[in-house]
Amino acid sequence: MSFKLSELPYAYNALEPFIDEKTMRIHHTAHHQTYVNNLNAALAKHPENEGRELDDILSNLDKLPADIQAPVRNNGGGHYNHDFFWKVLAPAGSTKISPKLEEALVKNFGSVDAFKEAFEKAALGRFGSGWAWLVKKADGSLKVNSTPNQDNYLMCADCTSDTPLLGLDVWEHAYYLKYQNKRGEYAKAFWNVVNWDKVAELGGY
Ligand SMILES: [Fe+2]
Repeated sequence: MSFKLSELPYAYNALEPFIDEKTMRIHHTAHHQTYVNNLNAALAKHPENEGRELDDILSNLDKLPADIQAPVRNNGGGHYNHDFFWKVLAPAGSTKISPKLEEALVKNFGSVDAFKEAFEKAALGRFGSGWAWLVKKADGSLKVNSTPNQDNYLMCADCTSDTPLLGLDVWEHAYYLKYQNKRGEYAKAFWNVVNWDKVAELGGY
């Protein structure tokens, strides 16, 4: 069994100037590729997991042999989260918030700006490395949250029924070359390259 790195749905320079080409290239070909390689190496130790979907593996980490639980959590989560991240990005100006999505954001957060503020707060408030998320709960409500390291909603005891609509990688490798320590500026720039069509599709709006 072998997971593979997918091609990006746009060129490495397509998100300039908000996310620079060098960062995108290193992020995809080095960081993401390493998660894929390490995930495959961990699973190869226990080939009985061959053919399982990554969702299934990450939702049942505690059932894996103890010696690969941590590497699969970190690297499987890394592969899963990055695959998701690339899909919710798009060249600046290529998509916009649909009326239905806007209505949902206003209903849940008060305004689109209030949603963005809450999301940026989650991104900035995550100590160390991790992710900020917009998720749709089972009851249809929208929530902002964050996870540490490469964890995600599949591994979280009280959020396994959440559907993620948007995620932001706040590991330094995602922004340090351009933004250095200014994670807040990166989080603000992110709004220019969100694939709002994908967010709406994931939320069913
Ligand atoms: Fe990353």
